[in-house]
Amino acid sequence: MQGKEQNNTAKAIDQPSGLANVHDESANDPMGSINPQVLEEHFQEVAFMSRSRESEEAKTTRSNHPMKMINHLLCHRGSNKSKLEDKKSSTPAKMVNIQPEGGGNEEPLLPMKEIPGSYGIPFLSPIRDRLNFYYFQGQDDFFKSRIQQYDSTVFRVNMPPGPFMARNSQVIAVLDAKSFPVLFDVSKVEKRDILTGTYMPSTSLTGGYRVCSYLDPSEPTHAKIKQLLLTLIASRKSYVIPSFRSFYASLFQTMESELAASTGAKSDFNKLNDTTAFDFLGDVHFGIRPSSTSLGTEGPSKANKWLFFQLCPLLTLGLPKILEELFLHTFPLPSFLAKSDYKDLYGYFSSAAASVLDTAEKLGLSREEACHNLLFTTIFNSYGGAKVLFPGILKCLALAHPRLHSRLAEEIRSVVKAEGGKVTLAAIEKMELTKSVVYEALRMDPPVKFQYGKAKHDLVIESHDARYKVSKGEMIFGYQPLATQDTKVFENGGEFVGDRFVGNEGKKLLKHVLWSNGHETESPTVRNKQCAGKDFVILVGRLLVVEFFLRYDTFTAEVGTIMFGSQVTVTSLTKASSSG
Ligand code: HEM
Repeated sequence: MQGKEQNNTAKAIDQPSGLANVHDESANDPMGSINPQVLEEHFQEVAFMSRSRESEEAKTTRSNHPMKMINHLLCHRGSNKSKLEDKKSSTPAKMVNIQPEGGGNEEPLLPMKEIPGSYGIPFLSPIRDRLNFYYFQGQDDFFKSRIQQYDSTVFRVNMPPGPFMARNSQVIAVLDAKSFPVLFDVSKVEKRDILTGTYMPSTSLTGGYRVCSYLDPSEPTHAKIKQLLLTLIASRKSYVIPSFRSFYASLFQTMESELAASTGAKSDFNKLNDTTAFDFLGDVHFGIRPSSTSLGTEGPSKANKWLFFQLCPLLTLGLPKILEELFLHTFPLPSFLAKSDYKDLYGYFSSAAASVLDTAEKLGLSREEACHNLLFTTIFNSYGGAKVLFPGILKCLALAHPRLHSRLAEEIRSVVKAEGGKVTLAAIEKMELTKSVVYEALRMDPPVKFQYGKAKHDLVIESHDARYKVSKGEMIFGYQPLATQDTKVFENGGEFVGDRFVGNEGKKLLKHVLWSNGHETESPTVRNKQCAGKDFVILVGRLLVVEFFLRYDTFTAEVGTIMFGSQVTVTSLTKASSSG
C-alpha cells in the first residue's frame, strides 16, 4: 500500500500509572512486539478476573394502507380487534402459582407472574408490530404504550424486522433497570448470532466469517479475537489524545469557516464527523490515516454503504412506506452489491494493520479471519459507534442550558491551565462535570439501543414488581433507554442532568449506566460481551467535550433525528473569551 506516510499525530504524552507503556517505535507496529507467552499470561489473568467478577455478579443477582389491511385481517378472527392481543391486553400480568427455586426466607420474594402480552397471529401480527414500531407509534411509544397496557415492564412482543427477514420475531422485552442486566449474564443468555437481533446479516458481508460480535463467549474464537482487540486498544492508548485533538481541531476549524461563509450559514456536524471519525480511527488504531492511502476520501462512503447493507432492516429513511417495507424490511439486500466497497476497505486493513495481523497469528488466528474482524470492529463497532456517540453528546449539550456550557468551559480551562496547558489523561480524570456530562449523555441516549440474549436454560427474571419464568431458548430483548431512564433508579430519569454523576452519591449510580453492554463499573474481558473499546469510547467522549469548550464559550444548534441517532446542525459558535 502506498501512502505509508505515517500520520502519527501521536507524540509521547503524560501517562498515569497502570496504562500500557507504548513506545514511539510502535507507530509502524501498532501492537509493539508482543511476546505470546506474555499474552497467554495476560489471557489467564483476564480470565481469572472475569471468573471472580461473574461470581460477584451471581451474588448480587439473587437478592392500501398496509396497517389497515393487517388490522382488518386480524379483526376478522374475532371481535373488534385481535382476540389474542386484546385478551392479553385486558389481563395485565396475571398472577400464576409457581414457586421459585431456592426461595429461602431471608428476603421476601416478589410474586411470580405470568409474562403478559402475546405474539398474536403468526406472520400477520409481526408485520403489524413492525409497522407500529417504525411508522405508527415510533419506538419509544411502541414500548411505553405496552408497559401501560400490561402494567408491566416485562412482556411478550414481536420485534422488527419480522417476516421474511427474521424466522422468529418473538421476544420477551425487559424494560426496567432491574430486569435488563440479565442480558449481560452470559451464564444465563447466549449471545450467538444476535448482535442485530432477530435477524443476522449474511456472512458474505464479513468475508464468510462470523465476527467477534456474533460469537458467544463459549466459542473459543471469541476469546482469541477479543484478546487481540483488547491488546490493540491498550497498546494504542497513548496515541488517543494527540490524534483526537489533531483531527477534531481540524473539524472545528472547518465548522467555523462554514459558519463564517455567509449570514445564516449552518454547519452539519454529522457530515464533518463522518469524515473526521473515519480518519481518526484509522490513525489511532493503526497509525495510518485511511485518506492518505488508495482509499482516498472514499472511505466513509464505502463504510456507510457496507453498514447500510447490514443495518437497513432496522432503519427507516423517510421514503414511501411501501418501498421501505419491500426493500429494507422484508428481504435482505443482495450483498454482492457491497462487495467491491468491502474489498477496498479490506485492502486498507490488510496493509495498515499488518503488525496486528502478525500478533493475531501468534494467538492462533488466521490473518484473514483477524483482518475481517479488525475491519468489522473498526468500521461497525467503532466508526458506527462514533457516528452516533458524538452527535449524541453534542445534542445533549445543545439542548442544555447555556449555564452548563459556562460551567464546563470553566472546569476544563482551569484544569488544563493547572496542568501547564496540556490535555492529559490525568487532567481529564480531574474534570468531574465533564465526565458526568458524558455518562449522562450515554445514559439518556445510549448509542446502541437494542440488546438481545437467548435463555441458555429455564430461568427467572426479576423486575421491580415481580418475577417471571423464562424458558430455555426464548429470546430476551432490552430497549436500553427505558432501563437507563428508569425513575426507580434515577431521579427525574427522563431528564438530562449534567452533574448527575458528580460526587460520591453520583458515582454510586454509575453501575446503572449500561451503554457498553455491561455495567459502567465493570470491564470488558474475553469471558463477557462488554464492548472491547469501553475505556476508549469514554475517553474520546470526554475529549470531544474538552476540545469543544477549550475553543468555545457556548453554541447553538438545530437538533433532529437521523437513522440510529441525532442530527446536529450547528448554527452559531461563540469563541472562548478566556483561557481559564
Ligand atoms: C462509540 C463507540 C462505541 C459504542 C457505542 C460501542 C458499543 C458497543 C456495544 C453496545 C456492544 C455490545 C453489542 C451487543 O452484543 O449487544 C459492543 C461490542 C463490542 N465493541 Fe464496542 N462500541 C464502540 C466502540 C468500540 C471500539 C472503539 C471498539 C474497539 C475495540 C469496540 C469493540 C467492540 C467489540 C469487539 C465488541 C464485541 C465484544 C464481544 O463480542 O465480546 N467498540 N460495543
